[in-house]
Amino acid sequence: MTTADDLRARFPGLSDGWVRLDGPAGTLPVDTCVDAIADYMRSPAPANLGGEFDASRASGAVVAGARAAVAGLVGAQPDEIVFGPSTTNLMFAFTRALSRHWEPGDRIVCTQLDHDSNVAPWMLAARDVGATVELLEVDPVDGTLDVEPLKGLCADGRTRWVAISGASNLTGHAPDLERAVAIAHEYGARILVDGVARVPHLPTNAAELGVDVLSTSPYKWYGPHAGALAVRNNLLREIEPYRVRPADYDGPLRWETGTQQIEVLAGITAAAEFMTSTSIAEEAARETRLLALLQEGLHEVPGVTVHGPSVTPDRAPTVVFTVAGRSPQEVDRFLASRRIAVWHGDNYAAELVDALGLRASGGVVRAGIVRYTTEDDVAALLAALTELSALPTG
Ligand SMILES: Cc1ncc(COP(=O)(O)O)c(C=O)c1O
Repeated sequence: MTTADDLRARFPGLSDGWVRLDGPAGTLPVDTCVDAIADYMRSPAPANLGGEFDASRASGAVVAGARAAVAGLVGAQPDEIVFGPSTTNLMFAFTRALSRHWEPGDRIVCTQLDHDSNVAPWMLAARDVGATVELLEVDPVDGTLDVEPLKGLCADGRTRWVAISGASNLTGHAPDLERAVAIAHEYGARILVDGVARVPHLPTNAAELGVDVLSTSPYKWYGPHAGALAVRNNLLREIEPYRVRPADYDGPLRWETGTQQIEVLAGITAAAEFMTSTSIAEEAARETRLLALLQEGLHEVPGVTVHGPSVTPDRAPTVVFTVAGRSPQEVDRFLASRRIAVWHGDNYAAELVDALGLRASGGVVRAGIVRYTTEDDVAALLAALTELSALPTG
């Protein structure tokens, strides 16, 4: 059985002793990911794709391995996986290509729950062709998203796409995806789920959910900085990407403009294997226990207010809070002085921070549980906040 120490020893980035609660912004890479990247770079394999010589074939195998590994993680087929430098980057390319099929008066539905990378690309692409974007609203008290009003937004058949968060990168809330997919498809709309904050924590199977597109960023699940889309239901073939003319390939290669970062793909395979080497459901249960400990502890600290929903097993283990009389930046800076890494601000969940009325006070402080988080990390954060609460403000 793997102990917490064995597991933590697999993350070279933990060696400086900092308490890393910044996981929702990006996790540390696992050792096998680091090794896979270095091994590929040191081997004779580095070469571009499509050649008849050994190195080119070896690089092709690395790419194929990464597609298979990510497909296995998110419940898609290998030839449905498109890689890119980041999910945001892929979202701009994808929505721009999609919008060539939209007409003035068509509608896209986004949500107030989402990271802006699942809102702004749709808004800009829609604006270019005269389509409209409607925002599904969250509950202004706890930021949860009821997907039922989607019906009203899709009923007239003019909604082309629904773009919805799989789990919030701010509050961890995970909306009812099964219901959202059912409503979208009932009225002939396609649905894209932003899985970036979900896939690291919750079992997510694109085929079982029936989503048309699922995004995920490997650097949120112990891999290297990159993004990936699982594009299903033949959409990769139906939609023509912006591409250079000779790149007349079938499948995902047609979408991956320019030369891929093949060494990064080697790391992605190792990270995906790490993710699936244990039961994601069991990992989620452990993370939820730590989240409950953290959230209960935060309620006890004088002056701390937790925002977002209560702890349940079906959400991401991320919590946001504010401290009376102090800006989120000030809290972040104090925690950094105690060698505790968190994030502050809107964390790009711009609509959600506005809807919760937290913009004027500078957003929130965000802490997240990941696989290498321990009870000691939680205790360190709570102790530092208790120390801060005893200091004079202003
Ligand atoms: C929920 C969510 N979606 C999308 C993104 C954007 O991902 P990327 O950094 O790969 O562009 C992030 C990044 O933090 C995120 O948290």
